[in-house]
Amino acid sequence: MIVEIPGVFSPQEAQVLVEKLRATSWIDGKITAGAQSQRVKHNRQLDGDNPLGREIGDEIINRLAKDAVFMSAALPKRIYPPLFNRYGMGESFGFHIDNAVRGIRASRERVRTDLSATLFLSDPDSYDGGELVIRDTYGEQRVKLKAGSMILYPGSSVHKVEPVTRGERMASFFWIESLVRDDAQRSVLLDMDVAIQRLTQQEASEESLVQLTGCYHNLLRMWADC
Ligand code: NI
Repeated sequence: MIVEIPGVFSPQEAQVLVEKLRATSWIDGKITAGAQSQRVKHNRQLDGDNPLGREIGDEIINRLAKDAVFMSAALPKRIYPPLFNRYGMGESFGFHIDNAVRGIRASRERVRTDLSATLFLSDPDSYDGGELVIRDTYGEQRVKLKAGSMILYPGSSVHKVEPVTRGERMASFFWIESLVRDDAQRSVLLDMDVAIQRLTQQEASEESLVQLTGCYHNLLRMWADC
């Protein structure tokens, strides 16, 4: 399941973040890559300890905690502290799968990467190329979002970032361990949640809503691993 989370930041807020981030120091992106992905990864990244990155990362997590679509789609248990990357002219990241488990630096905590997230920060009109290409059962999805919007996709999917041919693409990326590890189960829960919200707005019968809401929570109880 691929879900867009629009407007985590406004385009204006994203522009301010891009300008601040551009002024800090960046390192080779291979630093967080596994053995296979190192060979195909050509970009730059912010060090995980960079204070500006940590500050913006905390703000991303604060915003997402208040975002109903994100909470419903991801059912987050743990979130990896957001990282940041930039792709200049000719830079790209070939097909790969993200590591299944990631240790959080300077802690013993680990995050199982049930979902991958990319929060687009650059104005899409300011660069060419740089699409996130995700392979799923329906073929390849090509994703390039407005500045400040985010895409959530299964951590198990093969994906790549197309070469940037003009300008620069800056983004934040991170992973989420979900209460429900299976993508198909999360997808059923999201569909039910959306239907319940819609029926509530349409003032559907209280009895049916209670029953349907009960089904949602009982499925979540069956599938959640806390
Ligand atoms: Ni990746």
